[in-house]
Amino acid sequence: MDTPIGGRTVARTLRSEAETEALGARLAALLVPGTIVFLYGDLGTGKTTLVRGLLRALGVTGIVKSPTYTLVEPYRTADLVIHHFDLYRLRDPYELEEMGIRDYLQGGAICLVEWPARGHPVLRDCDLAVTLSVGGSPTERVAHLQARSAHGIALVDAL
Ligand SMILES: Nc1ncnc2c1ncn2[C@@H]1O[C@H](COP(=O)(O)OP(=O)(O)OP(=O)(O)O)[C@@H](O)[C@H]1O
Ligand SMILES: [Mg+2]
Repeated sequence: MDTPIGGRTVARTLRSEAETEALGARLAALLVPGTIVFLYGDLGTGKTTLVRGLLRALGVTGIVKSPTYTLVEPYRTADLVIHHFDLYRLRDPYELEEMGIRDYLQGGAICLVEWPARGHPVLRDCDLAVTLSVGGSPTERVAHLQARSAHGIALVDAL
């Protein structure tokens, strides 16, 4: 069941890994070049699972896992470039400047960022913030999706 918890925030209960992947697939259909999505939530709450569903829906095949050590993994489809970040091991947000974060963010690519708070304040703005948490059973997750830009509002409204 969907529970609206504010004008531009929606909550979704995800009862299985497949449902989390399906939410990712739903999001995939609403992305435009340049969309930035922040993925919050503790270890193992399903951030990468959601990204996997999203990338599969865009036609990406092969392994999708958290780029914990490399910080970023690029993917390419016929008409989109997607960068999947995992900043868990980022020691200093300014490392992002050294790796050329501005180019990643400004090139029209879609950026999906796990552990975005690690990148603050170098990484600050997104269109959509997704927060995942464990629900009432080990295989249940709750996703809160919050719009943080005009495009984010359109995205949340279309979900
Ligand atoms: N409803 C669910 N949605 C997503 N994952 C689930 C669900 N139920 C159980 N799981 C399990 O939870 C784990 C989620 O792992 P995942 O790598 O997606 O988490 P993560 O948030 O990316 O963690 P990390 O911060 O370590 O990168 C997987 O082992 C998956 O099988
Ligand atoms: Mg992950």
